[in-house]
Amino acid sequence: MTEDSEFEELQRLKREIHFHNYRYYVLDAPIISDYEYDRLMQRLKEIEARHPEWITPDSPSQRVGAAAAEKFVKVRHPAPILSLGNAYGVDELKAWIERLIRLDERVRYADFVVEPKIDGLTVVLTYRDGVFVQGATRGDGEVGEDITANLRTIRALPLRIPVDPEGPQPPGFLVVRGEAFMYIRDFEALNQRLEEVGERTYLNPRNTAAGSLRQLDPALTASRPLTLLTYAIVAADGPTPQTQWELLQYLRRLGLPVSSDVEYCANLDEVLAAVERWWVKRDTLPYEADGIVIKINDLKLAAELGFVGKDPRGALAFKFPAREVTTRLIDIGVNVGRTGVLTPYAILEPVEIGGVVVRQATLHNFDYIKEKDIRIGDRVLVKRAGEVIPYVIGPVVEARTGDEKEFIPPATCPACGQPVEHLEGEVAWYCVNLACPAQLVRNLEHFVSRGAMDIVGLGIKIVEQLVESGLVKSPADLYTLTKEALLKLEGFADKKAENLLQAIEASKSRPLARLINALGIRGVGEVMAADLARVFPDLETLSRATVETLMTIEGVGPNTAQSIVDWFARPGNREFIQRLKQLGVWPVSRMEEEEKERPKPLAGLTFVVTGTLPSFTREGIKEFIQQQGGKVTDSVSKNTSYLVAGEAAGSKLDKARQLGVPVIDEAGFMALVGQRSK
Ligand code: IVH
Repeated sequence: MTEDSEFEELQRLKREIHFHNYRYYVLDAPIISDYEYDRLMQRLKEIEARHPEWITPDSPSQRVGAAAAEKFVKVRHPAPILSLGNAYGVDELKAWIERLIRLDERVRYADFVVEPKIDGLTVVLTYRDGVFVQGATRGDGEVGEDITANLRTIRALPLRIPVDPEGPQPPGFLVVRGEAFMYIRDFEALNQRLEEVGERTYLNPRNTAAGSLRQLDPALTASRPLTLLTYAIVAADGPTPQTQWELLQYLRRLGLPVSSDVEYCANLDEVLAAVERWWVKRDTLPYEADGIVIKINDLKLAAELGFVGKDPRGALAFKFPAREVTTRLIDIGVNVGRTGVLTPYAILEPVEIGGVVVRQATLHNFDYIKEKDIRIGDRVLVKRAGEVIPYVIGPVVEARTGDEKEFIPPATCPACGQPVEHLEGEVAWYCVNLACPAQLVRNLEHFVSRGAMDIVGLGIKIVEQLVESGLVKSPADLYTLTKEALLKLEGFADKKAENLLQAIEASKSRPLARLINALGIRGVGEVMAADLARVFPDLETLSRATVETLMTIEGVGPNTAQSIVDWFARPGNREFIQRLKQLGVWPVSRMEEEEKERPKPLAGLTFVVTGTLPSFTREGIKEFIQQQGGKVTDSVSKNTSYLVAGEAAGSKLDKARQLGVPVIDEAGFMALVGQRSK
């Protein structure tokens, strides 16, 4: 092969590899196999090895090459890298437009572009004659840091444009702005890998992306699954499009990655409709967005509107309510649950998250505190999203002062002072003292609750009184209470005592399923209790069942079966069952009644469905809702419990908003079913 033809082959390989990179990392639609790709890359490297003088910075072989740097070099941006004004609701959005119209009548007839506001790190990319020559952070907007070597490792970033030789020729000098970030699934996979090798995990995709780019070793950046989306031109020495919408298409045709979630809106009404859609769409995005950016499409008009400080008037960040905030971890408390499980919880400096003041958050378990190295006094990141209980994601290590204290799990139960125990292979620590007052209170609370013995009027206050006074040491003691005894308690008069005794008496006729649920066996909830009641005629028979027998029942796995057997094996519990029998709390299984006990998670709720859902057909979801005990109607009214909205939801969404009916997407709906079936 002659040198000339080898040089030509090299050029062709570079083009092809750039193109396949683009198909794979930008479009997510590769057209060759990994194997074929590797072959091309191998061939490129062979030629480059023979002719090192031919290696150029835009070669796909040169993504990771640079050695770790000592420090970042400062670079001045060719034009200020601006930020955006914020709006925190539709009213503020409308006020923005009204202000602009007063400033310039043309805004009344303006069209817009709506883009996701991706939560990552702003980057400024310089191309000279189509070659990526420099990448920088935003810095203070005037001067940023040169992170070229790190950015080169991002596969979605084209080292040469246009990627497709048929594409438009960019101006000789072109500076684009974009956001480097990480997809949620890549972030989770990364954290899982780190956890497996016992390394510190990251807090969220944003911090991970920023941290990976602002460190000095490109090899480390290369190992992080970063990606990129671009959305603006900062400077160019040739003509560029006059509208934002055309500009996005232009960037895309150059081979720069552009979000596929961008939307064109012909007027303000369409913007408002887009905002509604995004409100729901937010939770289904594969990346984290803290809002959407609304931009006046006409770039000349936008520029003429000028600035307020560093914020251009022609664009606005519409922020979603925050879901993650930082606050101080004042202390760690420990709760004792019904089954004796000790669970730590965070006592926080009160902080508002999405309109709710949060003072406490879950810390899951003691292992979690240790794994995340959460210390008392830390600034911690707290998340509250959708239906879940607020939880602590982890500490902000950079904010440590040295005064933080390590948390040591208690060796004894905080409620009764007895030593706690740990079961091999389980994360939980237990207080195994059956007489532990904390457990007793929880146990009783559960025993009398609606899905269990349903003793009306026996709330947490009275439960605590009964335990504190020593009148009740076991749920069975409820059935021995007398009027005289109750009258000695604070707040009890004749009527109240009589009513309570009557309610307790009435609970004796609850079906077996309710009583099984009331026992509070670990792993046995309402659904399983109903299943057990259909198989076993009474508690005595159930108490003699073996693990093997139990496992033949649908839904009963080895852990639950063992937990049931263990429960009945404890002497205290045997005694408890015998006492219930003596006291006449002894329902026997009656088929029809037990059948009715099977709870329907959506009972009492009315749904309206609109738009296209990812995994249900319209008929499918209706049937599912009905099976789960819910009702489906066609139009939204104030009696609608939830609007389930999918893609392209229309006027029903507006109606729901007007009436304040909660709107959930499919994921939110499934979470609701899951939560209510517990
Ligand atoms: S436009 C004049 N568009 O949000 C142009 N910003 O302060 C101003 N961001 O950190 C920015 N996605 O990097 C724009 N589609 C998008 C964006 C976006 C994310 C970031 C931006 C900056 C912040 C706005």
